[in-house]
Amino acid sequence: MVTWLFKPLYVYLASVVGVTDSTPDSSYVAAVYEHKVILNPHPRVPVSRHDALQHMQKNLDIYEEQAARAAQQGAQILVFPEDGIHGFNFTRLSITSYLETIPDPQEESWNPCMKPERHNNTEVLQRLSCMARRNNLYLVANMPDLQPCPLKTSPTSTCPPDGRWQFNTNVAFRYMSDGLLVARYHKHNLYFEASCDTPPEPEIITFDTPFAGKFECQFWSHLR
Ligand SMILES: *[C@@H]1O[C@H](CO)[C@@H](O)[C@H](O)[C@H]1NC(C)=O
Ligand SMILES: *[C@@H]1O[C@H](CO)[C@@H](O)[C@H](O)[C@H]1NC(C)=O
Repeated sequence: MVTWLFKPLYVYLASVVGVTDSTPDSSYVAAVYEHKVILNPHPRVPVSRHDALQHMQKNLDIYEEQAARAAQQGAQILVFPEDGIHGFNFTRLSITSYLETIPDPQEESWNPCMKPERHNNTEVLQRLSCMARRNNLYLVANMPDLQPCPLKTSPTSTCPPDGRWQFNTNVAFRYMSDGLLVARYHKHNLYFEASCDTPPEPEIITFDTPFAGKFECQFWSHLR
């Protein structure tokens, strides 16, 4: 059984996980936060990394408060919506300063909160990881990912003309005073997202939780 906190009436394009199997008799508390994203008023104009971070920190400040609230109410997993940190209506170029290169958790075990120096330009990953850690939560969030060519997961696929892959990505972090990056999922069915590439192959990404077994990363168009 899942107990939902902050049950939303309608979350557009929430980046959510579905339980694929769970132990009988288990119950857990899940929270979905319907975030009114603070937008960049001029999303088509390129900005510096400094300005992009300043913008994203405003949304992350709200995430931080909500993660604490969810934890106080006993949530074990908290899911934030698609585009909730950076916003939308970017061009392929104007989103550049918002991108972080998200390492593949299947290749590398990395805790961004504990080892921030291992990968440059990962301020958002670090903040989300620390949020999961501080609040003892599994935390799922959505952010744009930049991957160099050739793509490690699909080295033979044709590189985009500008020489880089840009993906709309869900990330999941583990709890237990931890914050390990446990999943990275690249969205396949893009919806008018000029700033992003479709991954050459659809991905099936799951992560395990002690309270509810396996979750699969996917995008739902809405959640009631
Ligand atoms: C995003 O762009 C669409 C057209 O492409 C426009 O209708 C919409 O108002 C824009 N939204 C924001 C928040 O800028
Ligand atoms: C991070 O950036 C600094 C400064 O550009 C550089 O010296 C360092 O090697 C980089 N670290 C990694 C892990 O790439």
